[in-house]
Amino acid sequence: MEIQIHNPLDMHVHLRDADMMSVVAPLTSKYFSWALVMPNLVPPVMNTADAIWYRQRIESLTGNDNFTPFMTLFFHEWLTREILEKAKDHIMWIKLYPAWITTNSEGWVKSVLSEKAKEIFGIMEELGIVLHIHGETGDFVMDREANFMPNYLEIAKAFPNLTIIMEHITTKAAADTLDMFPNLYATITLQHLEITLDDVAGWALKPHLFCKPIAKRYEDRDALLELALSAHPKVSFGSDSAPHPQHTKECPGCAAGVFSAPISLQVLAQIFDRAGKLDNLQKFVSDNAVNIYKITPNTKTVILEKKDFVIPEKYWDVVPYRAGETIDWSIKEVK
Ligand code: DOR
Ligand code: ZN
Repeated sequence: MEIQIHNPLDMHVHLRDADMMSVVAPLTSKYFSWALVMPNLVPPVMNTADAIWYRQRIESLTGNDNFTPFMTLFFHEWLTREILEKAKDHIMWIKLYPAWITTNSEGWVKSVLSEKAKEIFGIMEELGIVLHIHGETGDFVMDREANFMPNYLEIAKAFPNLTIIMEHITTKAAADTLDMFPNLYATITLQHLEITLDDVAGWALKPHLFCKPIAKRYEDRDALLELALSAHPKVSFGSDSAPHPQHTKECPGCAAGVFSAPISLQVLAQIFDRAGKLDNLQKFVSDNAVNIYKITPNTKTVILEKKDFVIPEKYWDVVPYRAGETIDWSIKEVK
């Protein structure tokens, strides 16, 4: 059995920089026609010049793959109308990380509802720039996302023409919030469709499944599966593929992030196939995002076949999601 996916899009990926970028960027550009690249470098992608320079570095590695990297700016309270007006022609997306909440978010946005933040949201709304939020508070780790939901509601209500993306949602609370305002949308990762906290820490600790937001309960995972498998039109795929060198995962103080870029389409095919929902995969990995963002992706077709595939133990110095496991689907051709 074979399926074709046209123009797969990854609406949330970390391509990093330097040596790591030269390994991981081609693993996204090979299989996806388009990806939204996160700005949490050190230092972050703060303005248009940073974003253009970063895009050029990515393009120098992916130029032959018929792939477009779309850049995001890192939300900070010194964003002005002038910076945003300049950015608008190059960047349609801004990513907001609450301070300290994840990799390289240290010290930046202390309050997502500060007067300054609201002023910036107003300008973004006027200019048609999309706001992506890593929606977690600093509370008890299992409650962080659910406790963030009132912030989404307040922003969505105050800025009805601002498109707000609830990034990598992990809870039923977020799934239930999605339809409360027409301007709220969400991305879902691969791992959050499969794992719960039991997989991460229920038995032997699995550092390669540790990410932020952390995987939650069975009912949360099932709520996300329901959204993805039904290809809910406000939800799109964002892998949050977040590579870290092996020694920074397998150590005390394990870095947060799951690397899934080169195997996401194959594992998604398995999930949708086993649920009898293969027909909805195209919408989840491409069409929904095309509609939400009103974009025209590069033309690329990935042909997947139902044939065993053993996930490599490593890509360079990075251990991927489900390393060494055999899955039902493999990539036959990309054209
Ligand atoms: O697990 C994560 N890793 N979550 C994020 O939000 C950031 C990412 C990273 O950059 O490593
Ligand atoms: Zn991320």
